[in-house]
Amino acid sequence: MIQRKTNREIQLMKEAGELLAACHKELRALIKPGVTTLQLDSFVEDFLEEHGATPEQKGYQDYPFATCASVNDVICHGFPNDKKLEEGDIVTVDMVVNLNGALADSAWSYAVGKVSDEKQLLLDTTKKSLYVGIEQAVIGNRIGDIGHAIQQYAEGEGFAVVRDFTGHGIGPTLHEEPMIPHFGQPGTGIRLKEGMVITIEPMLNTGVPYSKIDEDGWTARTMDGSLSAQYEHTIAITSEGPVILTSQDDE
Ligand code: MF3
Ligand code: CO
Repeated sequence: MIQRKTNREIQLMKEAGELLAACHKELRALIKPGVTTLQLDSFVEDFLEEHGATPEQKGYQDYPFATCASVNDVICHGFPNDKKLEEGDIVTVDMVVNLNGALADSAWSYAVGKVSDEKQLLLDTTKKSLYVGIEQAVIGNRIGDIGHAIQQYAEGEGFAVVRDFTGHGIGPTLHEEPMIPHFGQPGTGIRLKEGMVITIEPMLNTGVPYSKIDEDGWTARTMDGSLSAQYEHTIAITSEGPVILTSQDDE
């Protein structure tokens, strides 16, 4: 069943989203050559605790960390580890904040130091594809309109859209109906209605769209070792259009 939220519930999710955005902004300054993704993970855990929130991903289906940290060819759900990030890497940090029972979910890809032109183009295009999708998140549109817009744009720029992981409804639990694919046909799927809260979280690859899972059972990598990036926001569908609950303002 698709949960529709009251204005009050959306307001609480927005407060969780604002905290999450603040955390991403602090992280941005920490991400440089020599830092490990485990250090970033502890920073996030401490930051959330200091602000009266908890990391919803930790313990979710036995996932062991506060964040997912996905470097270079890792698409999503990478485990934070003690390997130092290197100049030229790209890393996606994904987290879900629980503030007083309200959830917000946002992943962001970061350049470590200076990255190649190919990586920068991947980052820019993936971020833009998120906003192209968000534009379609209006009452009366269908889910396929979101995915179609993302796919058209991303493939037009020469990147592949990951199929194996999608956006989703969110609240009261992390993964709710409906699923939000980042590909598809316009005019298909259910209609978006006022009060729905969803994530849009396109993952784009420089090579094939296919993924494989590491032995840890979580880490998803590109099948061909090509690069992958991801940007994700939590969005409320309102009579005033899509409201980005995890906005970092300057974006
Ligand atoms: N934030 C992720 C998503 O967008 C959640 C991954 S599940 C976890 O759906 F267990 F890995 F955290
Ligand atoms: Co999500």
